[in-house]
Amino acid sequence: MQVSIFGTGYVGLVTGACLAESGNAVICLDVDASKIDGLNRGVMPIYEPGLEDVVVRNHASKNLNFSTDAASAIAHGQIIFIAVGTPPDEDGSADLRYVLAVAKTIGMHLGQYAVIVNKSTVPVGTADKVHAAIATELSNRGVAIEFDVVSNPEFLKEGDAVKDCMRPDRIVLGSKSVRAIDLLKKLYAPFNRNHERIVQMDERSAELTKYAANAMLATKISFMNEVSNIAERVGADIEMVRLGIGSDARIGFSFIYPGAGYGGSCFPKDVQALEKTAKAFGYEPRILHAVEAVNADQKSKLFELLLKHFDGDLSGKTIAVWGLAFKPNTDDMREASSRTLLAKLWQAGAAVRAFDPEANHEAARVFGARDDLTLCADAMAAVEGSDALVLLTEWKTFWSPDFKALKAKLKAGALFDGRNIYDPASVEAAGLAYYGIGRGRSITYPKLV
Ligand SMILES: NC(=O)c1ccc[n+]([C@@H]2O[C@H](COP(=O)([O-])OP(=O)(O)OC[C@H]3O[C@@H](n4cnc5c(N)ncnc54)[C@H](O)[C@@H]3O)[C@@H](O)[C@H]2O)c1
Repeated sequence: MQVSIFGTGYVGLVTGACLAESGNAVICLDVDASKIDGLNRGVMPIYEPGLEDVVVRNHASKNLNFSTDAASAIAHGQIIFIAVGTPPDEDGSADLRYVLAVAKTIGMHLGQYAVIVNKSTVPVGTADKVHAAIATELSNRGVAIEFDVVSNPEFLKEGDAVKDCMRPDRIVLGSKSVRAIDLLKKLYAPFNRNHERIVQMDERSAELTKYAANAMLATKISFMNEVSNIAERVGADIEMVRLGIGSDARIGFSFIYPGAGYGGSCFPKDVQALEKTAKAFGYEPRILHAVEAVNADQKSKLFELLLKHFDGDLSGKTIAVWGLAFKPNTDDMREASSRTLLAKLWQAGAAVRAFDPEANHEAARVFGARDDLTLCADAMAAVEGSDALVLLTEWKTFWSPDFKALKAKLKAGALFDGRNIYDPASVEAAGLAYYGIGRGRSITYPKLV
């Protein structure tokens, strides 16, 4: 099939690569000419495990092409995906500017029937807006060309995006058009062989499904962070509680890890946008509001623990930070907890020596050159000359450090475990002070009566 994809970011590039791999002729289009130029020279704009192989192979076989030429991409596409960003507007609602700009462009150039597939995460009612924007342009041109708009939200996870795209756990298709759905069923057939993954529904339900999924996952995280704050105060260990509740099949083990707060390009903006949608339709979403508020506080948690350890004065201290990406296996730092921590450390007069296996270059771009930030070549280099160490992103490479070597290097001998990946007893056995999230060991136990 002939497929065109607007937006060559995490979603567009991965989708384009996977559809090319399954034999389709794909054009990935972006307004960012440097990104397209880089891709044409084999330079990946993002780090995503397994992506480079699929992109390079399919680009070489000419199944996957990169372009900035919208008119040609629209002429090429029987199926045209919209996979551009939907960042938060000033008030937190989703900014549809890029999605609607693409819709307008499609209307300006469409010459034959096509299915327009919206993969961007968009508020309820956007399929109607995309339809209207295309129809307006066609009418301005005085042409009558049939087209359908399908809402097909994307559920891939950064860090696992290629795997998720090749083996999705569901394919949500929102449309009332039998013609469009039939075409998409053919496109997705190679990813739908093992069992039926397609869940067919109307456009609005599909749009809400995506927000509901992300809001539910964010809720699980904030819930655990809330319980971790209770655990800390009552002298319980949240890790024991996690194991105790996760074994209940109704609760499950996934997404109940306490930590330094959720980040990334999706959860924060999607929870906010759903809140705005609810309010716009006259409903006060109390749970969503609490999920956000708990997360905002949690992002300051490690800073508060550091401040406590250093008796309220961090000026002149050097803090080593392991991990800057919002989660392992990505270089994405959008809304990452590291941004909150580093800003607070700098404000308090501390310097930072940081290392991330993939996000150092992104950190250099985000923070720019500054005297109080050293981006280090490896984990132990970050610890050199530092007072304390904060583990912020649980990359596998950070899981088994030599605690004795850390003790020898860290001037204040303290380790702050923002993801509870270390065994407190092993850390303390090496002579280090251990601080985790919601682990009663690091607080003064109340007297039991
Ligand atoms: N990143 C994820 O893990 C993920 C997962 C599921 C859904 N989503 C959703 O998918 C959408 C895209 O997310 P992303 O992370 O891939 O974004 P991204 O920021 O990585 O990429 C978006 C790309 O769109 C391009 N673009 C903007 N306007 C354009 C236009 N008019 N024509 C062509 N290209 C244009 C930008 O230059 C950019 O390269 C968002 O709505 C997001 O919420 C993201």
